[in-house]
Amino acid sequence: MNTVPTKAIILAAGKSSRFKTKKSKLLFNICGRTMILYPIKVLESLAIPMTVVLGHQADEVRAEITSANVANVEYVIQDEQKGTGHAIACTQATWTEENILILCGDTPLLTPDFIQSLLQSHQQTAAEVTLSTTMVIDPTGYGRVVTTDGKYEIIEERNCTDDQRSITLVNAGVYVMKKSFLEQHINLLQPNTLTGEVYLVDLIKLASDKNLTINEHRVAYDYVRGVNTLQDLWEVEQIQRSQFIKHWMAEGVRFELAQSIHIDINVEIGSGSFIGTGVHLIGNTKIGEECFVAAFSIIEDSIVHNNTTIHSHSVVQSSTLGENVQIGPFARLRSNVVLGDNVQIGNFVELKATTIGNNSRTKHLTYLGDATIGERVNIGAGTIVCNYDGIKKNKTIIEDNVFIGSNNTLIAPLTIGKGAYTAGGSTINENVPAESLAIGRSKQELKAGYAQKIKDQLRKKYSDQENAALETSDTEKKAEPLQNTQDAAQCFRGAVKTNSELNEPS
Ligand code: UD1
Ligand code: CA
Repeated sequence: MNTVPTKAIILAAGKSSRFKTKKSKLLFNICGRTMILYPIKVLESLAIPMTVVLGHQADEVRAEITSANVANVEYVIQDEQKGTGHAIACTQATWTEENILILCGDTPLLTPDFIQSLLQSHQQTAAEVTLSTTMVIDPTGYGRVVTTDGKYEIIEERNCTDDQRSITLVNAGVYVMKKSFLEQHINLLQPNTLTGEVYLVDLIKLASDKNLTINEHRVAYDYVRGVNTLQDLWEVEQIQRSQFIKHWMAEGVRFELAQSIHIDINVEIGSGSFIGTGVHLIGNTKIGEECFVAAFSIIEDSIVHNNTTIHSHSVVQSSTLGENVQIGPFARLRSNVVLGDNVQIGNFVELKATTIGNNSRTKHLTYLGDATIGERVNIGAGTIVCNYDGIKKNKTIIEDNVFIGSNNTLIAPLTIGKGAYTAGGSTINENVPAESLAIGRSKQELKAGYAQKIKDQLRKKYSDQENAALETSDTEKKAEPLQNTQDAAQCFRGAVKTNSELNEPS
């Protein structure tokens, strides 16, 4: 917990122009959390009250923060984005603590440890201004830290000389300033002559010129990477994702081809579990112990209990799977599916809003929607529940120990009582009482020796058709006498060929 009296300001009004997207960069998702919520959650974990400066897409950014239910957040609107210095000036009425911590909404890899050590070093050095800096191989886009005769100045890239541009020590964009210093200097900032923007970083030069104490706090680059472009977003997400994967590896989870796996911030995985190539674990997903999630499966907002296997290419959304369940390959579970223990769901099975009791099975090519299925039920291949009548969704109840034959069409609303059987190929649209057999298909007829009769009839029919066609063409030829014997031979060959085809079995 932070003990330095601090109020934080998060700058989040900028236009995201380098992102080149309609949506503000602050609303982009990084491993299951929007960018703006990363610094906010860090401050929340340290119980630091904060002011968020909104401007571009203010309503959307505010709604995102509100949805996270974070305590101690207030908002200030910067109507026109006149630069970071102007943004801070807009927040003056909210400077309620002795120290003001300033950070940017586009710096998602900040950690509580870094913020805490920054505040402590600020207090220990009794500095007017603490400036975090970092060394970076490619400093493009960052303000360069220029030190001359012990004086500090931050020069933005656009304002740099060629020599200054090659400096690799840059401003990390996280500062702590004494409230009294800010009050005395914020209104002295002048618009930059090149861009017209009011730069917050010019406060560093003001402090330095007055020989006020500036505390430079060095930090590793990965903690303070700023996200200005989609490429920056990609790099930050890779770092974040690999941190999660390393964390779960340390907890006993085996990742196959770890670099191909996507994992969100709120995912939990039990020890002994295996996560296959290309698996996506999204949102609030919990995987139990000793589970097996095979390649290219997607599990979103779902709970998977211990010892369960998800075969490859399965998609599970908003569902709960019991222990020792088997699903897939190519299974799709969505919208609140609840499976008991030892349930088996096979390939090309889709389940929607369906509950299935312990030890039940539906193993091939099936759709079950809005159904409640008991224990030890067997559902045959190709069975479809017709839950939608064109206006509303209807329920199907299949009680314990029922056996549904293959290729059934179950027309809801429908109840099939305990222990009942339905015959293969049935269309069932009336309730089936317990322990009965329902047959919903036309009755099979047998006609002995009928096969040859059909073949004979067909042969005669086709032969009559061919002969009729030949007669027509003969009549046409007669009207025009044959030119020579070659024509006559061709005509003969055509007739023979047709007759031999007629004799071939079909
Ligand atoms: C800023 C710093 C730069 C530093 C870098 C670190 C300035 C002038 N430059 O540059 O020295 O190396 O951060 O990442 O401060 N914003 C507002 N209102 C505005 C303008 C911006 O709220 O009028 C917000 C943005 O939404 C963003 C933050 O301030 O969250 C920083 O703005 P950005 O344009 O990204 O500054 P950089 O060019 O990255
Ligand atoms: Ca930035």
